[in-house]
Amino acid sequence: MDAIRIQGGVPLNGTIVIGGAKNAALPLMAAAMLTDEPLTLTNMPELADIATMGNLLRQLGVRIDQSALGAGDASGEAGATGRTMTLRTEKIASITAPYDLVRRMRASVLVLGPLVARHGEAKVSLPGGCAIGTRPVDLHLKALEALGAKIELKQGYVHATVAKRLKGAQIIFPKVTVGGTENTLMAASLAEGETIIENAAREPEIGNLADCLNAMGANITGIGSGTLRVKGVERLHGARVPVIPDRIETGTYAVAAAITRGSLTLKGTRYDLLKSVFDSMASAGVEITQQGDSIIVAAKNGLRGVDMMTEPYPGFPTDMQAQWMALMATADGASMITETIFENRFMHVPELTRFGADVNVHGASAIVRGTAKLSGAPVMATDLRASVSLVLAGLAASGETLVNRVYHLDRGYERLEQKLQACGARIERVGGG
Ligand code: EPZ
Repeated sequence: MDAIRIQGGVPLNGTIVIGGAKNAALPLMAAAMLTDEPLTLTNMPELADIATMGNLLRQLGVRIDQSALGAGDASGEAGATGRTMTLRTEKIASITAPYDLVRRMRASVLVLGPLVARHGEAKVSLPGGCAIGTRPVDLHLKALEALGAKIELKQGYVHATVAKRLKGAQIIFPKVTVGGTENTLMAASLAEGETIIENAAREPEIGNLADCLNAMGANITGIGSGTLRVKGVERLHGARVPVIPDRIETGTYAVAAAITRGSLTLKGTRYDLLKSVFDSMASAGVEITQQGDSIIVAAKNGLRGVDMMTEPYPGFPTDMQAQWMALMATADGASMITETIFENRFMHVPELTRFGADVNVHGASAIVRGTAKLSGAPVMATDLRASVSLVLAGLAASGETLVNRVYHLDRGYERLEQKLQACGARIERVGGG
């Protein structure tokens, strides 16, 4: 199994181009099943999760054509750097999302809404537990039920059926759910009548999906707010839609600049997608400058500890919590980090302490006391963001770090080593870790 080897302690300097957002691209790909016409997505990232979703969609009858990296530029769209992917679902060939795929990638559950809405039937494996929490899909199912689907749970599978067409309804989510909102939006777009989604997730990835659905002929209003109104239409058509920049990749490299006390220009991204993180960084003493579609992040020694609590958007994203903890481990003073989204998202803590970080977990909060110097260590990661927080700690630490289980990183960071190497990091992938 591959590992990442880092010789740390080098301040990073240079430019990193940010790719399209994984968590926007995945639901957009699923949305392609809502029409028999082609949906073209530009600025697509090249990631293991995207390939997994592609495999699942092909099994369900979606034809996928992709262009090479950089071909997006030919479209003349500003900031288009990634690949272009065209998905076409002339006919649904299968209604089953098998356990093997859903277990590996929970976002597979996003095929549920489109399958029921377009085909009247779906069989999707329940995802089961996951490294960061129990992560049930009960809210997805309740919403589909409210739209008129019959839901049965059998042998680990959700079997959803609807006799004719889904019917618009009022759906009040008791808890903000990104995937639940996405599944509901896709299903409601083809339902009969109006659906009102209250306490909808406001993440930018939801906006990207709603804009895409509207470009396909849907009628969604309230985008960006907690109340989404969907007037169902009988059919959707093809469209061409850009994937928004990856805010978590942006934030991760912003932390890479700060934790190494270097300076990075993050290109092809948007400040507004990650304001909460940049605000916290500024409070810690990191310099942030916006310049067109670039953000320059620079830091010197003497960063301050800043408390942070994860929240649904526009709050501080849970997907940046582990990276923030790594940064706070190098700041002066203490900071309290509270995780409110997932119940088990501190799995990186024991690994960070192997670098010499001083972190104490009390329930949903962790107290981090900054240390003057982290030192490299062999470490092991449990999920995508935990893995990258260990890479960040390794970049800052003196001596050698070996991060094992890098397949987690490949799920969500495109060409991570190359991007960091180009900015002076001594980082390489080695076999057999
Ligand atoms: C999305 O997951 C992201 N994944 C996650 O990113 C991200 O951490 C999460 O949103 C929160 O921002 C994708 O977009 C593909 P939720 P999702 O439904 O949709 C509970 C990464 O590292 N809940 O908003 O699965 C749930 O257990 C990943 O890129 C229910 O109780 O998250 C959690 O506590 C990891 N019942 C909370 O809600 C449900 O039916 C928020 O989950 C659904 C969710």
